[in-house]
Amino acid sequence: MNEFTPLRSALFVPGNRPEMIDKAINTAADTIIIDLEDAVPLDKKSEARRHARQNVKGQSKRLIIVRVNGIETDFFEADLDDVVSEDLWCLMIPKVEDPGGAQKLAKALEEQEKKKGFEQGAVKIIPVIETARGVQNISAILGDSSISYRLHTCAFGAADFTLDMGIEMTLSGAELLYPRSRIAVACRAAGLEPPLDSPYMIDIKDVGGLESDALRAKQLGFQGKLCVHPLQVEVCNRVFTPTPEEINYAEKVIRAFEVTKTKGLGTLQLEGKFIDKPIVEKARRIMRIASLTGQKPDESKS
Ligand code: GLV
Ligand code: MG
Repeated sequence: MNEFTPLRSALFVPGNRPEMIDKAINTAADTIIIDLEDAVPLDKKSEARRHARQNVKGQSKRLIIVRVNGIETDFFEADLDDVVSEDLWCLMIPKVEDPGGAQKLAKALEEQEKKKGFEQGAVKIIPVIETARGVQNISAILGDSSISYRLHTCAFGAADFTLDMGIEMTLSGAELLYPRSRIAVACRAAGLEPPLDSPYMIDIKDVGGLESDALRAKQLGFQGKLCVHPLQVEVCNRVFTPTPEEINYAEKVIRAFEVTKTKGLGTLQLEGKFIDKPIVEKARRIMRIASLTGQKPDESKS
């Protein structure tokens, strides 16, 4: 996957539950994440690896990520041994906390690639930042040259972050403002595509709560959310897709600016709003995401 593909929804599924993997593959999630980590009981790790490997194999139709166990765990090496293959697009690495961890990870991946005869850097990664140390060290982690060339983006995990901090996840999400902002800014500063936000875990069936949470994450600069239930996919896809109104307004801005430019001017007013270069660039970005998510301008509204 070379071109930026927006990941509005990334649906977790426990690796040891093949029936759930099949279901997840058939949802509208932009990607699915087969989990070998926290959703899998300790005695089911090798079973989960087997299902992950089988599902990744020959998988060209569905974008699949595998979340392995943490770098410092006893499961990590065996996870890589079992799931790294030429069909694997991307690994999600939990609890990355410092450049030391990033370097260990890099070494392990290089060994895998060498052993299996792949080109170096073939395996992409998404580190999950979900501890206080991870948040504190994020720029050093993303900027570490041992892994920077493999990064697809990074992700935030609020369950582990709030565990580490000894705080509760609340409906307002106020306690997550700092780590989310820090992660979104660091990701951008590292030249990566926007990060993926934590799953909404407070109440799986609370669609309104999820929508508010997703909108907050979007406002802070996330491209999408991790999901822990198929019910969450549709909301995330909707929130992180430009609306027809946004698309039509963006088109109007771009058109009006082209006319302004022919008159030798660099600014204009449109529907009471001041438009200059950054606003036009934002409109272009909306059009780019709209096109990548298959949205078309609504002709009736232009
Ligand atoms: C996800 O891994 C989280 O900890 O929220
Ligand atoms: Mg976690």
